[in-house]
Amino acid sequence: EFKPKRIIVTGGAGFIGSNFAHWVANNTDCHVTVLDKLTYAGNPENLAGLDPARVELVVGDICDEALLDELVPAADAVVHYAAESHNDNSIADPEPFLRTNVEGTYRLLEACRRHGKRMHHVSTDEVYGDLALDDPARFTEETPYRPSSPYSSSKAASDMLVRAWHRTYGLPVTISNCSNNYGPYQHVEKFIPRQITNILDGARPKLYGDGRNVRDWIHTEDHSSAVWAILTRGRVGETYLIGADGERDNVTVLRDILRAMGRPEDDFDWVRDRPGHDRRYAIDAAKLRRELGWEPAHTDFAEGLAQTIAWYRDNEAWWRPAKEATEARYAAQGQ
Ligand code: NAD
Ligand code: DAU
Repeated sequence: EFKPKRIIVTGGAGFIGSNFAHWVANNTDCHVTVLDKLTYAGNPENLAGLDPARVELVVGDICDEALLDELVPAADAVVHYAAESHNDNSIADPEPFLRTNVEGTYRLLEACRRHGKRMHHVSTDEVYGDLALDDPARFTEETPYRPSSPYSSSKAASDMLVRAWHRTYGLPVTISNCSNNYGPYQHVEKFIPRQITNILDGARPKLYGDGRNVRDWIHTEDHSSAVWAILTRGRVGETYLIGADGERDNVTVLRDILRAMGRPEDDFDWVRDRPGHDRRYAIDAAKLRRELGWEPAHTDFAEGLAQTIAWYRDNEAWWRPAKEATEARYAAQGQ
């Protein structure tokens, strides 16, 4: 078992990385240095309430080689969450995705190689492309890469770099590819928070295309426990898929949200589809469950959704500053 005492969490002021920082602070005695550029998606408030002796925030760019040479020597491992993460943004302007997701991962790999450190790379199920609605198959670690969007192709490229640095230089790495996360602190550009905050604002939710696209939802805390299990007990050089058997189509999720918030279930707008919109994602997490004994704790989606709705209701001060600009961007795209 690998027992890190100090880790760097890149992107730890974003949605999933900050949840991981909380998880590590609450469940281990490992120290966390968050390295985050604080883009539009990063928010230091996501780390509020954490003991500064346990979790420290360094504001900086993962592409900054000199900064990496300062930080990496003191750490036992780098856990790499930092990314441009939103498909719609990648369609409007791919460039930052190439820079952060591809070049940034390369810079981290090189820093880990120079200083002899381990790296866990956090990636997405979108690298496998999509499945038909009626396909009995789910993604496994053997599924060929077939990414569709500028975002998912930049993540696929980053995965390939990590694999190559392991094979060519023997860098000790692990990789995880997770399905769609939900929970508190998710940016209002993403599907579930966008719809909840629209309803709180008295605006109608917006559904893309025919609404039958399927996503495989997992609570972000379950993603965090899985990443810790892989970092500490996973086999070096291996990839693990993370998912919690949460397949649902978008129109079903949207109607669940509307009902839970006391609105009629057809009180939403159908809007322009996303170009290249992936039809269905589905994860088979048998390897993770079998090898590492991992199990999700949040298995009741209705309960998780109700808690998430309550969180956005109670934390308007957190999401309000981003809402107007996000909706203006969508409106300009007819979405
Ligand atoms: P997010 O957009 O909420 O957060 C990304 C964070 O990275 C932000 O805090 C941002 O400031 C930081 N960042 C961006 N560019 C940076 C740079 N150049 N240097 C340093 N920091 C930078 O994203 P998220 O949804 O929390 O996703 C986190 C990771 O998990 C990503 O790698 C994403 O691909 C992966 N992932 C996400 C999901 C999902 O459902 N959201 C599912 C599977 C995997
Ligand atoms: O599968 C993992 C991926 O999940 C991560 O790698 C990404 O970082 C993360 O953003 C997420 O990607 P998606 O594209 O699946 O998530 P998004 O929240 O953008 O959209 C979820 C689904 O909802 C998708 O089918 C598009 C649809 N949608 C989205 C928005 C914002 C709508 O119908 N209406 C909307 O307003």
